[in-house]
Amino acid sequence: MTTSEIKNVQGIAAIEALLAAEYGIAGKILALPGEHDLNFRIQASDGRAFLLKLHALGAPEELDMQIAVLDHLAREATELPVAKALPSRSGASFTRVEFNGERVARLLTWLPGETWARAANRSSNSVETLGALLGKLDRSLAGFSHPGTRREYAWDIARAEMHLANVDLIEGMEKRRAVRAILEHFVSTVLPRLKACPRQVIHNDANDYNVLVGADGCVSGLLDFGDMVESNRVVEVAVASAYALIGSPDPIGAIARLAGGYHGVNPLGETEAELIFDLVRTRYAVSMCMAARQIRDNPENTYLLVSQEDVWRELRRLEQENRPFAIARLRDACGFAPIPKAARVVRWLESNAHDFSGVIKPRIARPKPAVFDFSANSSGTWAGLDKDVAQARIEAHIHAEGADFGLGLYGEDRAVYKGDAYQATASLRRTIHLGIDLFAPANEPVHAPFAGKVAFYHDDAVPYGFGPTILLEHRTGEGDAFWTLYGHSASRLSIGQPVARGEAFAAMGNRAENGGWVPHLHFQIVTDHLGLEGRMHGVGVKEQWQVWREISPDPSVVLGLSVPASVIVERDKAFLVRERQRRIGRSLSIAYGSAPLKIVAGEGAYLIDDEGTRWLDMVNNVCHVGHCHPRVVKAAQMQIARLNTNSRYLHDSLVEYSRRLAALFPDPLNVCFFVNSGSEANDLAIRLARAYTGNRDVITVDHAYHGHLTSLIDVSPYKFAGKGGEGRPAHVRVAEIPDLYRGRYRYGDTDAGRKYAEDVKRQIDALAAEGRKPALFFSEGILGTGGQLVLPEGYLRGAYAHVRAAGGLCLADEVQVGFGRVGSHMWAHETQGVVPDIVTMGKPIGNGHPMAAVVTTEAIAAAFANGMEYFNTFGGNPVSAEIGLAVLDIIRDERLMHHCAVVGNRLMDGARELASRHTIIGDVRGYGLFNGIELVRDRDTLEPAAAELDFVITEMKERHRILLSSEGPQHNVLKIKPPAPFSADDCDRFLEALDAVLAQVKAA
Ligand SMILES: Cc1ncc(COP(=O)(O)O)c(C=O)c1O
Repeated sequence: MTTSEIKNVQGIAAIEALLAAEYGIAGKILALPGEHDLNFRIQASDGRAFLLKLHALGAPEELDMQIAVLDHLAREATELPVAKALPSRSGASFTRVEFNGERVARLLTWLPGETWARAANRSSNSVETLGALLGKLDRSLAGFSHPGTRREYAWDIARAEMHLANVDLIEGMEKRRAVRAILEHFVSTVLPRLKACPRQVIHNDANDYNVLVGADGCVSGLLDFGDMVESNRVVEVAVASAYALIGSPDPIGAIARLAGGYHGVNPLGETEAELIFDLVRTRYAVSMCMAARQIRDNPENTYLLVSQEDVWRELRRLEQENRPFAIARLRDACGFAPIPKAARVVRWLESNAHDFSGVIKPRIARPKPAVFDFSANSSGTWAGLDKDVAQARIEAHIHAEGADFGLGLYGEDRAVYKGDAYQATASLRRTIHLGIDLFAPANEPVHAPFAGKVAFYHDDAVPYGFGPTILLEHRTGEGDAFWTLYGHSASRLSIGQPVARGEAFAAMGNRAENGGWVPHLHFQIVTDHLGLEGRMHGVGVKEQWQVWREISPDPSVVLGLSVPASVIVERDKAFLVRERQRRIGRSLSIAYGSAPLKIVAGEGAYLIDDEGTRWLDMVNNVCHVGHCHPRVVKAAQMQIARLNTNSRYLHDSLVEYSRRLAALFPDPLNVCFFVNSGSEANDLAIRLARAYTGNRDVITVDHAYHGHLTSLIDVSPYKFAGKGGEGRPAHVRVAEIPDLYRGRYRYGDTDAGRKYAEDVKRQIDALAAEGRKPALFFSEGILGTGGQLVLPEGYLRGAYAHVRAAGGLCLADEVQVGFGRVGSHMWAHETQGVVPDIVTMGKPIGNGHPMAAVVTTEAIAAAFANGMEYFNTFGGNPVSAEIGLAVLDIIRDERLMHHCAVVGNRLMDGARELASRHTIIGDVRGYGLFNGIELVRDRDTLEPAAAELDFVITEMKERHRILLSSEGPQHNVLKIKPPAPFSADDCDRFLEALDAVLAQVKAA
């Protein structure tokens, strides 16, 4: 019986009876296509969906293998989106049924999604998620074995050599020749290396009808384990790639994405990465041989002929790819250096550069170049400029600068490259300059920087081409061959001829002979000419820059110029995320991880992204006087141009700054220490307190954060009691958080401050019971990580009294909240009417410049000066001092403290008005522009509305272009601490947006 026969009423009735008898399920039945097995979609009356498979009893071992693998995956990899087998009434994962002969019935869960072949929402992300799914699957299959997988299977491309016998069955000479060449290459080159690669059971058929794509464009399922085989693991990647690249404008890009996704969860080895490209080609060759055999045995099968058109088309596209370049891209996708010898070549150049000759005008010791900006976004456009005009402009600029020659930059993204030669693939153009241009009049001699021999010479003789191009071959001390390339330069040398260091072996061509360009030398280093020899590209594809920059590294190392001759190539966000994950420690998260921002500029309270969108920044208290405040920028530029050195020399700015900073505190806080970060300031504070008191223990407030140094993780419950934390160290005591909203003593309790301070006393008593005393009590003037909490009246007064009575010192951490942010005072602790023994400052102190400070008393500073010097390399350098002074001037001149008070009150009044309409707002608090809005699901139980807050933050960003973040132990406090220039208009815009977003929360 075939699927079409089953569609008749009788057949359907038989299936219904089977489902009822074996599985107790009733529902709608839809017959699906299938080659050997009969497949049905079952829509059960209870809403569930299933796939019913009626297997033909071909090879019992293979069928058993398919049953066993789903059992294995159901046990070992529950999260994988593969079907799960439903047990029949008797508890078996399959049953034997009579269906026009004996068959095996299996009922599987239905996987959601559209087949890859039909999914309209596919993207490069789909390809990456497919790779990741296969990587996870193979990790789990590595522990699976079954006799059915140990087969000599014609679809196992690791055995592709068996198909050499079928090549002659292929119709068409060109196809036969291509397939034979691939299979012979497989036997001679691929197979010997493949033998060293890991082997395991693989799915082996992630084709476009076996892969499902979900509504979000990510891969949502994988079907059909009937082609499983024990083979080389990397074959899995190659088979899937052969389908995933179909129709892609950049086939190697698609393979690289898939391999990268796989590698991210199941790392591939270097040899595996290098073999993928050849294995994909092999898969196509095998497919063509198999089809030829099937067509011979079954000539009326027209479906095969149609699908083979796809295969041939895609294979031909792959055959046009540059193989070494494809391999370099796949190495890169799997985290390996694209060109392994590139780093060795650059190292050799760097260590021998002192001995190189100048490439042009070698007799001038320090030639002066005039730099040109040929980038696509340069102000004076060059693209399409008349050649005479361009030449005159270049000559005039060199003349005006009094320069020895003109300079065109490496890495520049240019719009000047016209013509088909620069079209790399259907969608990718070459635009990034791989060399450095040196402009001088035609016939200027070109010298060899070091000895070599003429390796290649080619004249492409097309407009916008290189014109005559010479490659000299060189070798590093370790024997790696590499080349220097001289474009647009005529020469009468013959191939193989040696060239001495400094020899004038060529000359700059004129416009008639150099591709029509203004006379110049294009100088490039080549670590791998990709088989292109004299046709080597001088311009690369931006999206492939990480590979091109290894093929042609920055030639500055050879030229030794007096100005930068290269630029950073700007890349898209997806690349930057991937590269960050590879190069930067992953314990640093990315803001708005699922849709990160690429911020390229700042102005006042706004951040500007790479597309020019302006984002209202309500998070950054570091750029306190406003992003890129011109007075801060100027102060930094002026001083860095004059002097930057350590603070052991006398300097007016430092002494002036220490006087100005100390003047912001009452007596006896008169002595400053200058450091580089809030953490360093707090670490020094602990040392000061220990030196002065002779005690070691520290008391800190619950949920506080005081810095990232080891000593400060110890006093930061936010860290040591959180993820990855090692718990409270023995020398630290934690005082109860004085939270007036959800703590033990709440708003309305006028004695709450004293009561919370009692817990500080309890910690001191606990220390005393062990015969110990506190060295230091840490607190902020408003609690940041604690949830933007305003301290209860009298809290610090009470706590300080207890600590001091026990012989300890009291520290105010003003790293977050200092410099007038609280509006009423310069320092948040002043709102509590106390004078600390030590104050630490950071973040806003330098408006983003890394500096920080400690202010303390003469007595404490004296106790610390015990003979051991305190030297801090960067702390208090003249640039920092000038920046610090500029920040203080701006706070004074722009009346920023008052501004924080006025706008902060406007913001809190507005938020309280919103609270009258949105019950989700449980509390609005803060001083000046340091505020918290706490969200709760219920104003009585105070159940935290953390998920709702996440939604609010995302919507405020996505819909209203406002950047905010969350805070507090329950992650339900909207944290507000914008740059101080945040205006009344910004405030109103924020309130209006918040109103709208909270209405959405309510509706949801
Ligand atoms: C209250 C407080 N203290 C200290 C620090 C540490 O400062 P830094 O990151 O400059 O080392 C921070 C940083 O977030 C902080 O919030």
